[in-house]
Amino acid sequence: MSELAKVSPSILAADFSNLERGIKKIENCADYIHLDVMDGHFVPNLSFGYPVADAIKRTSNIPMDIHLMVSNPSQHIEGFAKYNPKILIVHYEVCNNLYRTLQRIRELGSKAFVAINPHTPVIVLDDILESLDGVLVMSVNPGFSGQKFIERSIRKVFMLSEMRKARDLDFEIMVDGGVSPSNASRIVEAGADILVMGSAVFKSEDPESVCRAVKS
Ligand code: DX5
Ligand code: ZN
Repeated sequence: MSELAKVSPSILAADFSNLERGIKKIENCADYIHLDVMDGHFVPNLSFGYPVADAIKRTSNIPMDIHLMVSNPSQHIEGFAKYNPKILIVHYEVCNNLYRTLQRIRELGSKAFVAINPHTPVIVLDDILESLDGVLVMSVNPGFSGQKFIERSIRKVFMLSEMRKARDLDFEIMVDGGVSPSNASRIVEAGADILVMGSAVFKSEDPESVCRAVKS
């Protein structure tokens, strides 16, 4: 792999009967910890909300990135900002006032990222790229961990990377869904900076070595 990627293990794939133990396993290698908040409406699954974010905040010093897969993200920004996430992610598909939402996230002290679903083309972000800190390319349909990586996502990462270069911007590109040591290098070569990994890390016998494998 030519460049180093940052890694954000997604606790959705961890053992919820003992989250603290799962978090300890990645403490020495994770750059972030990824929290998938799902409302059963924007996505067909329910996951967790404020109490779990609060518990993770008290358990670990790993910076959090919170991925809001909810139909009304602007109503939850203040609530999650209380846990001081390094990154707060909202979906393009459900933000009617995206610019205002991003500004609010920044005012509250987090980096403002926008996620796009597999069916959403990168070009819809053309007018907002100057106002965001990162783009999350969903490489599976949001809702579940353990799905297969959608190959076409690589092209989206590359297009974003080219737009970033052409306009001399420095937003980060994050990829989420089906990422593993077997496809990480191709994703990073296309221009990704942060790799979210759920099952590849937490279903492994040795989560730390999986994290390290995609960073070197
Ligand atoms: C999917 C979530 C992902 C998921 C990743 O909706 O946004 O963050 O937990 O899990 P894996 O890496 O197993 O696809
Ligand atoms: Zn996610």
